[in-house]
Amino acid sequence: MQRYAVFGSPIHHSQSPRIHAEFARQTVIALEYVAIEAGHAEFATALAASGVSGANVTLPLKEDAFALCGERTSARARRAGAVNTLIRQGDRWHGDNTDGLGLVRDLTERHGLDLRERRVLLLGAGGAARGVAPALLDAGIHSLYIVNRTAARADALADALGEPGRVHARALDALPGLGEFDLLVNATSATRGGALPVLPMSLAGPRSVAVDLSYGEAAVPFLAWARAAGCAQALDGLGMLVEQAAESFLLWHGVRPETDAVYTALRTQADALVTAD
Ligand code: ATR
Repeated sequence: MQRYAVFGSPIHHSQSPRIHAEFARQTVIALEYVAIEAGHAEFATALAASGVSGANVTLPLKEDAFALCGERTSARARRAGAVNTLIRQGDRWHGDNTDGLGLVRDLTERHGLDLRERRVLLLGAGGAARGVAPALLDAGIHSLYIVNRTAARADALADALGEPGRVHARALDALPGLGEFDLLVNATSATRGGALPVLPMSLAGPRSVAVDLSYGEAAVPFLAWARAAGCAQALDGLGMLVEQAAESFLLWHGVRPETDAVYTALRTQADALVTAD
């Protein structure tokens, strides 16, 4: 039986084993998919020792995985500077990134949004932000404002995206002057270790959609802000998680599984957990 894994730290909360088990059942493909705890120092050794045919990579390893692949990366992984999917090629690894497509599929297909000509705010400029920014641009948005606590990182991401007419880097203290956005994406890890930066209500209006790339407790503060600011929709990252997994599954197995059933099951569980707290 072929073995697959997700690597990251912390990894105990990962839903990926459950998602891939469901995809395997649905497509009648025999595989094992496990979660392996590894930080920067252990990643390369743990990957080599795992015997996997393919792997997903999550926090904080997406840039490590990109470096590990050397030249063997997809164009979208190079634009993101980050890899979330590893495909074994003999004794080497090919790296791809399905995060951005996962987000865009969730927004457009599951939630029915039309991203074309939208004015988009991206909060954060780390690995998560880099993963989704190229796909948002490819989806035809009008403009992307990248705002990050460390302004130099926002500048670096804007430069890397290479579309000065559409992509703008701004400092956090510029937020009050940026006006209203159609789509607001929280790609910071702020609530995992601290508090969300202060976000003025003027960023959102009654047609705005807010999405947090995380889910569960980590997504609660931003989604609460979005509702208070009057956004039409406040979405967490659960749909993106399922869609990026389906794209990884397609890369490994040549078939794209159906995602609605597993999304609905995870949604029910996540809502019950958040409500219980
Ligand atoms: P990830 O892969 O989740 O993006 P990362 O590369 O460590 O992880 O990036 C974390 C992002 O969250 C960064 O944009 C970070 O801002 P800095 O570049 O200034 O570090 C942002 N972030 C983390 N904690 C934050 C906080 N308390 N307030 C604002 N932004 C924060």
